[in-house]
Amino acid sequence: MKTRLRSVIKKNFSLTCAYYLLDNFFAKLQGYTGTVATGSGTVHRDKSIESSLTYIETVFNDYKLYSGKRQFNGRVAEVGPGDNLGVGLLFLADGCESVDLVDRFFSKRNARQHATIYRALIARHAKLLEKFGDVDCNYETAFQGLQRFYGKNAAAERFFTQPESYDLIVSRAVFEHVYNPQFAIKRMAAALKKDGVFLHKVDFRDHGMFSEHFHELAFFEVPEGLYARMTRDSGRPNRVLIDSYRRVLGETLPDHTLLITRLAGVGDIVPHLPYEQIDATLRNQAIAYVKSVRANFSKSLRSLSDEDLSVAGIFIVAHKN
Ligand SMILES: C[S@@+](CC[C@H](N)C(=O)[O-])C[C@H]1O[C@@H](n2cnc3c(N)ncnc32)[C@H](O)[C@@H]1O
Repeated sequence: MKTRLRSVIKKNFSLTCAYYLLDNFFAKLQGYTGTVATGSGTVHRDKSIESSLTYIETVFNDYKLYSGKRQFNGRVAEVGPGDNLGVGLLFLADGCESVDLVDRFFSKRNARQHATIYRALIARHAKLLEKFGDVDCNYETAFQGLQRFYGKNAAAERFFTQPESYDLIVSRAVFEHVYNPQFAIKRMAAALKKDGVFLHKVDFRDHGMFSEHFHELAFFEVPEGLYARMTRDSGRPNRVLIDSYRRVLGETLPDHTLLITRLAGVGDIVPHLPYEQIDATLRNQAIAYVKSVRANFSKSLRSLSDEDLSVAGIFIVAHKN
């Protein structure tokens, strides 16, 4: 019954908007009561141990690959780590002094499953085995050097109050959920030490809000004010696109590169590349796709170029000089 109702709602654009309005309202109420537990960031629940390990290692290896760093060191902040602290462990294994795991919400998790993942990860990495071979993996607090922060004061917009305190600030699949990513970036840039590195993968897609039954950019058709009321408290995608990142990074971390991870109407761009280096046929395919659907976009998005609207994900690589 519930599934049938959901399917009826999701096939109708206006009903889907109403559903997200209501859902956001309840998320806001939860926020008032101080509840921070959520399913967002619960990434490992349905994965096998092997695919969890692959996921964790891929996330870490991407930071390595796209930063061009052979080794990370110093103090790290991982923003929005979600349910698992495996990526943080790999930073420690690489030689980092400490990793602060900063999350606005507490992603629900199964402690026993995570203990198994940590044991398997430790067994695969000699440095981790040396450091944590004797640790009781049932307790996240047992890993020296890792610290978890949760709640409103651990939101990306609020947490970074100490200037020049981190050598590396990273995130994956987080900025699109942050209500004001531009403000968060300003705070994070100030919190980076000189020569600090800033690595963030951002997914501009709608995370299934409309794309299950409508075209992949259908969420751009919702008027700005309504969209904000459907998403701002529930952490759904914020529709902040590449033009805004270009602007705020130009002001705060001018030494940056924006790699494209995905184009609308095309798919993933792997390896991620600067826009100009992507095959012209693919760029033109994405632009043609945007042209075919942009007539009904919200006024606030209609001023963007076809190129910018076609970018469905980026990987930010920035250095503080
Ligand atoms: C889609 S999950 C990504 C989890 C993990 N980074 C990964 O790649 O598997 C998004 C994460 O961002 C967190 N998040 C959402 N809004 C945030 C904010 N304003 N500040 C910090 N973290 C936030 C969520 O709680 C969640 O853990």
